[in-house]
Amino acid sequence: MSGAGAEVAVGGAAVGELVGSRTVRGWIVDPVSEREGPGEIRIGDGVIRGLDWLDSPGGADIRADGVLIAPGFVDLHTHLREPGNEDAETVASGLAAAAHGGFTTVCAMPNTTPPADDPAVVGRVQAAADASGSPVRLVAYGCVSAARAGEALAPLGELADAGVVGFSDDGAPVRSAALFRNALLYAGSLGLPLVEHAEDPALTAGAEMHDGYVATVLGLRGWPVAGEVAAVARAVALLEDVVRDEPRARLHLTHVSTAAALAIVRDAKARGLPLTCDVAPHHLALSDEWVAGSRRWAWEAVDERGRARDPWADGALTASPYDPATRVNPPLRSPEDAIACLAALADGTADAVATDHAPHTVVDKDVEYGLAANGISGLETALGCLLAAVDAGRLTLARAVEALTVGPARVLGARVPVPGIRVGDPADLVVVDRGTAWRVEPDALRSKGMNTPLLRRELRGVVRLTVAAGRIAYTA
Ligand code: DOR
Repeated sequence: MSGAGAEVAVGGAAVGELVGSRTVRGWIVDPVSEREGPGEIRIGDGVIRGLDWLDSPGGADIRADGVLIAPGFVDLHTHLREPGNEDAETVASGLAAAAHGGFTTVCAMPNTTPPADDPAVVGRVQAAADASGSPVRLVAYGCVSAARAGEALAPLGELADAGVVGFSDDGAPVRSAALFRNALLYAGSLGLPLVEHAEDPALTAGAEMHDGYVATVLGLRGWPVAGEVAAVARAVALLEDVVRDEPRARLHLTHVSTAAALAIVRDAKARGLPLTCDVAPHHLALSDEWVAGSRRWAWEAVDERGRARDPWADGALTASPYDPATRVNPPLRSPEDAIACLAALADGTADAVATDHAPHTVVDKDVEYGLAANGISGLETALGCLLAAVDAGRLTLARAVEALTVGPARVLGARVPVPGIRVGDPADLVVVDRGTAWRVEPDALRSKGMNTPLLRRELRGVVRLTVAAGRIAYTA
């Protein structure tokens, strides 16, 4: 393999048991010990037998931008479409996509058909994961409200007994503030987080893309920043109220996408509220310009003072406008908002990166912009977006790895193993060749969802090996 003098000795092994001994050698980033540098990991029969940091001269040929070795990634926000829409994704295809993206744990969102507002649906999804044979760990969220209708609580206690890791009505916010309050209390008493999709539907009805200059020029109806800010402010106010009665209440805001909402989160965290949040790769690396046909990274779309450049003046438009693959909820935001997402990740306001992997069929996606289903297929391109930000100097490699591993694991608490590279533990890690690029082509994707605006684009960072729970989940 290429990649700056490092080697991955996986010997053409297929997905499945990791028998015999293997050695992986490269630039190890271990967010638990907060150490990074050249090293070698010995794996025997799926268990980590040795971790040697190679100080020079032994590791002198290993570069930070060569082969990266990190703990397996954890995705807090994955839409698998089973049950109900297996044409878009099955649990098996979703787990294969996860492994290709370097993820060894995914949290399945409950907006399936029927939704996971019933322990039987959770059991069915878990059974599909077991039947897939994938070693990638699937953990599930349960719904907050029955049928996600926002009117009555789902049976949160029964769902907790069925093993869910939190509750969410994602795809939509918890409609009623009163129900939200009760859910925070009840979920808190169960020791589980409420995961909120922060959107004020009264402000976003009919919206097609981020409200701003690009929307105006394209003639698309706007989803205003205030739609997120109002919902985040509501959620934080309710949390502040509830923690007085239930100190175990915990709120996680998912796919926060605007500078203004992140400012509220930053302030709430500074006041000590039990609040966490994540940002999505597409919200920190892409921007609303992409709807007009730009394909430049968000950091290329701002000037040295951080203000959005004019995409029309710069000749940045290289693709056709109105590509439905760019339609997502929350929408791709302004370049300034994307930079704010990156800054929030860098300073810890955002605890994690979460993909919001939302695969859709061609039938649901390749239609008039405003009729296209919302969502981007994201498990396989998340790492590429983050490494692009690292290469651009917008994020450290250590922080990118942290936001994909221990960051999301901490949000979930004891329900998922802490990612790390520990001698004696089953290997759970990803090996990435950062020196090589791959093209995001339909054939290259394991997800059934081809709905990504990154299609046909080259991304640096090829996943060579994903080992989950001591077994090979993906190898190339
Ligand atoms: O773009 C989105 N797609 N946003 C959501 O909140 C839901 C998701 C989906 O399920 O397709």
